[in-house]
Amino acid sequence: LNNITFTMIKPDAVADGHIGAILNKISEAGFRISAMKLTQLTVDDAKKFYEIHSERPFYGELVTFMSSGPIVAAVLEKENAVADFRTLIGATNPAEAEEGTIRKMFARSVGENAVHGSDSDENALIEARFHFSGREIF
Ligand code: CMP
Repeated sequence: LNNITFTMIKPDAVADGHIGAILNKISEAGFRISAMKLTQLTVDDAKKFYEIHSERPFYGELVTFMSSGPIVAAVLEKENAVADFRTLIGATNPAEAEEGTIRKMFARSVGENAVHGSDSDENALIEARFHFSGREIF
């Protein structure tokens, strides 16, 4: 798998009815969907997925929120996928995100910020494998 990133449409954006609009923006930006599912993280899944943030003050809140409802998990393929996807979603805090970015348009707050995007090629692969088996990635 070359040039992939991993994304989640987070519980806030799913609850707010933004799945279709967000997938449309992703598609228009030239990403190909290699894997996708509607799922819900258990508390243990969320703890494991965000282990890197376990010392942060917002870790508990993050784990509770990310396991609070259904998410869309997806693997996206494109040249320069990680960086281009981070540009498309905008800053972590939607108040600081550029006009037209997914977080600016759909996020509620820095914690409930609509979408996840991998921060490196290495993490994209780890995160994709966390959510999908080999035969679910096309
Ligand atoms: P993401 O970059 O997908 O992964 C780490 C998440 O931690 C981040 O999105 C935010 O949702 C969350 N996060 C970062 N900073 C804060 C904060 N100050 N308060 C609450 N959540 C945060």
